[in-house]
This record gives sequence, C-alpha cells and structure tokens, in this order.
Amino acid sequence: MSAHTAAVNLTRQIRTHAVEFHGVSRSFRHRDGRLVPAIVDVDLTVDDGQRVMLVGPSGCGKTTLLNLAAGLDLPTTGTVHLEGQEVKQPTGRAGYMFARDALFPWRTIERNVTFALEAAKASPSRRVQSERARELLALVGLTGYEHAYRSELSHGMRQRAALARTLAPEPAVMLMDEPFGALDAQTKAGLQDVFTALCKRLNPTVLFVTHDLREALKLGNRVVVISGRPGRVVLDVQLDQYFGTDPADNDGIEFTSEFHDLYHQLHEALGHGDH
Ligand SMILES: Nc1ncnc2c1ncn2[C@@H]1O[C@H](COP(=O)(O)OP(=O)(O)OP(=O)(O)O)[C@@H](O)[C@H]1O
Ligand SMILES: [Mg+2]
Repeated sequence: MSAHTAAVNLTRQIRTHAVEFHGVSRSFRHRDGRLVPAIVDVDLTVDDGQRVMLVGPSGCGKTTLLNLAAGLDLPTTGTVHLEGQEVKQPTGRAGYMFARDALFPWRTIERNVTFALEAAKASPSRRVQSERARELLALVGLTGYEHAYRSELSHGMRQRAALARTLAPEPAVMLMDEPFGALDAQTKAGLQDVFTALCKRLNPTVLFVTHDLREALKLGNRVVVISGRPGRVVLDVQLDQYFGTDPADNDGIEFTSEFHDLYHQLHEALGHGDH
C-alpha cells in the first residue's frame, strides 16, 4: 500500500461529526462598553441524521448558536466545526431557514429551489436541477406551483417552499430558527407533518430552535435545553430511547406516559411556567 493510499484510508477512518461546538462562548459588547456573555462553555456534538431541538428562554443564545454553525458569527472562545472543518466564515454547507421565508419574489418557486444548486461549484445541468426541485416540491406538497411566484403563495405554502429550498443542496446541517413559529396552529401542524415525512425520506441533520416543547418532542430525536442568559446547556435528552428512531414513530406520542414525563422534565429544566 502506498503512503498516499494509507493516508486516505486513515482519513476515512477518522469519524467526523456533522456539527461540533467545543468550549464555545460568545460575548457581545453592550452599548455601555461592557462585554456581556450571551452563551458560555457550550460543548455540543451533533451526529449525522440527528434532529436536535434547541429550547430555552428568549435571549439565551439559540439564534447565536445557529449563526455560529453557519459561520455568520464567530465564537469569542472555543471552536465550531462543520463536517470536521473549522467554521471561520459563512459556509455554503449549512442551510438556514427562518420563521419568515426568504424566497426571492422575482424568481418562480422552482427557480427559488434551484438557486443554491446554481451557485454550487459542481453545478448540475439545468435539467437535473429542475428535476430535483420538482421532486422536493412534490415532497412538500407544492406540485402544480413550480411556476408560481412568492406573492401567489400563502404563508404556509411559502414555508413549504422554503423547506424545499433549504434541503435542495443537501446541506451538512439544516439550521431552523423557529421555522413554524409564525404559523397558525392548523398550518403549523401541516408543516410539522411535511417535515416529519421529509425526515423519514431524507434523514437530514437538523438543529431546530423552538419555543414549543410539544413541537420539540414531536419532531426531534434529541432535545437540548439552554439556560437563561448567559446560555449554557443544562439538559441533553436523546428521544429515540423513548420513541424509536423513525421520525414517524413520534406520531401519537402525546398520549403516552413517557411523553408526559419527558414534557415535565423539560418544563422544569426550562425553569418557568409558560412553556
Ligand atoms: N449582534 C449582537 N450584538 C449585541 N448583542 C447581541 C447580538 N446578537 C445577540 N445579542 C445578545 O445575545 C443574547 C442572545 O441572543 P439570541 O438572539 O441568540 O437569543 P435567542 O435565544 O435566539 O432569543 P429568542 O428566543 O428571543 O429568539 C441576547 O442577550 C442578545 O441581546
Ligand atoms: Mg432567536
């Protein structure tokens, strides 16, 4: 075996994680000049296929953690790695989705989904891009709307399109910041079902921020509770030991005693009464 082959094999054997936060702290300069810690000493490793639900009080640093994973912000101390590479600048390997969609109004829905593929270094042909977009739009229930524009879609439909767009380039991690937080209850339930079906099919790696504990237990396979400011990880629970590994297994869990026990455990860790 040549030295080169040996080195390649060795590289393959080193297991990399999708996302790693090692001793991460982030402080912000307050208006009065003080350096105020937003998050402190966060150690968090997210493996491929994990759907980690981040819950915690407002201002505890959840969005900050997502920004660090995307390279939109840098830690004050510690390191963040994505697929084994230290994140030092904005990375195209992370897909970001917000409560409000960021669809381009001048592009059709299909061309919004292909956007990230067009920008990719090894961009597939226009035909392949279009096929992939159509496949994803079918998965989120938007067949027939490929040529529609954002203004022609309801808020729920826009979030479906945003989901398809986030998934299109097969990101190393989907960073979802309260993606269903601004939807009414019925539309939210529909989007949650779409998300579950997508996860079953595509098994994406997800860091998902929510204020809704029921949503965390329904959609995740792991829940991480962050304390009030400054944010620290205070509880980290694997859900698959309770509900199995298939995301569809979480359907109907609300009626089980395990669900209620976990709900109360998380509720207490959050340390206040309105969740
Ligand atoms: N660019 C910034 N400059 C100064 N302070 C900031 C900045 N970004 C975040 N912070 C502070 O860091 C803390 C964490 O903010 P972050 O937005 O991450 O909280 P969050 O958990 O996402 O809150 P919410 O649930 O309300 O969205 C807050 O105290 C916020 O004021
Ligand atoms: Mg936030």
